Amino acid sequence: MSEENLQSMSDLVGLCKRRGFIFQSSEVYGGLASCWDYGPLGVELKRNLKDRWWKSMTFRDDVDGIDASILMHPKVWKASGHIDGFSDPLVDCKNCKERYREDNIDTTKACPKCGAKGSFTESRDFNLMFKTQMGPVEDTSSTVYLRPETAQGIFVNFLNIQSTMRRKLPFGIAQIGKAFRNEITPGNFIFRTREFEQMEMQYFVKPGSQMKFMEEWKETRWKWHLGNGLREKNLKWEPHGEKNLAHYADAATDIEYKFPMGWGEMEGIHSRTDFDLKKHQEHSGKNLLYTDQADGNKKYLPYVIETSVGCDRSLLAILCDAYRLENKGEKDERVVMKFHPSLAPIKVAILPLVKKGGLAELAATIYRDLQVDYKSEYDVSGSIGKRYRRQDEIGTPFCVTIDFDSLEDQSVTIRDRDSMEQTRVSISKLKDFLKEKFK
Ligand code: GAP
Repeated sequence: MSEENLQSMSDLVGLCKRRGFIFQSSEVYGGLASCWDYGPLGVELKRNLKDRWWKSMTFRDDVDGIDASILMHPKVWKASGHIDGFSDPLVDCKNCKERYREDNIDTTKACPKCGAKGSFTESRDFNLMFKTQMGPVEDTSSTVYLRPETAQGIFVNFLNIQSTMRRKLPFGIAQIGKAFRNEITPGNFIFRTREFEQMEMQYFVKPGSQMKFMEEWKETRWKWHLGNGLREKNLKWEPHGEKNLAHYADAATDIEYKFPMGWGEMEGIHSRTDFDLKKHQEHSGKNLLYTDQADGNKKYLPYVIETSVGCDRSLLAILCDAYRLENKGEKDERVVMKFHPSLAPIKVAILPLVKKGGLAELAATIYRDLQVDYKSEYDVSGSIGKRYRRQDEIGTPFCVTIDFDSLEDQSVTIRDRDSMEQTRVSISKLKDFLKEKFK
């Protein structure tokens, strides 16, 4: 058997549309650039991914979850540095008006779009935050921003959570939510979009202990990606050198994934010092100091280790990694999405061989029973071969086939997505079989 990995993003975009994972936003109006809608299978995959993250982060002794508002007090963004510093340098081609990030092109050369030479404007900073108005009066005092990261909702709630949950250092706060950035060069499907979801966790530690916790979180986060089924050869660390270290960080590293267009950041793990809490303390005038009862009631601002992963970007890596083209050009060619079973949008497909002879009724009974525990699909239309191919393409780990023998021996055939091996299992043992496979 031959096997090819994903070669080009367009193959994946095509599959995602054809099978109901991801559609272009507002497609009937010609689409809205860099915005995407998750379809029925995409939304299941995304929920499973978020669930895995949420469980890995908050089903532990030392991390609480929150869900902060997207709109925050505008002073938050002044304090965090986003109003003054969250910008990309931008140049325009005076000839064709195309806009570029200065660091993405060589301005001494011709415009990549129209070929004009010496046509670029001086570079200027372009703030990436989306502005909107709060309330009925449109003036500068009513300007609010769509949050460009979820992290600040955690920082401003640090004391609320520490006190209500009676937390002692070290402890963390986790959040999943939408973030918005008016990116100059979005693209590569859901890799860089203007609206996306982040899964972020801030871990508050005693100053001086940050490197130890940074190492612990690096290991935890690497394992999480492997647990999603990503192959280790497609992952690498990309530490930030002194030059590209953010002004608030004393150490940072990214986990990168090898996408079809090249290596790209999937998650950042940052040691953010006490920068954010200090800034919020300054700008709000509120005392955010932590009292360390274990150290003679010393008061200080905790340091922070942040783990920040893009949900959509992680999902894109999972889609890319799962994609396999087997036996290309052969009669038995198939595309199969080898999702980790815990992430697969549909866990089991129930397929009666034919509609007639009582098979459809028996299959429907099995389907209703399995659907209670597993997201299942019942499919009776088309040849069994075509139905298997569809389930392969949407990554369903198991197909349960009901044939005429099933009526006699009360058994069904279970087909394994990856090996295509078939096992005969009695209907009464079906749930035990699946429980074992999905544990
Ligand atoms: N709080 C830290 C923070 O936001 P970041 O490196 O700017 O750090 C973290 O973003 C993660 O969010 C990235 O590693 C990426 O996975 C995701 N991300 C950032 N910008 C994105 C965009 N425009 N589209 C999709 N995902 C994005």
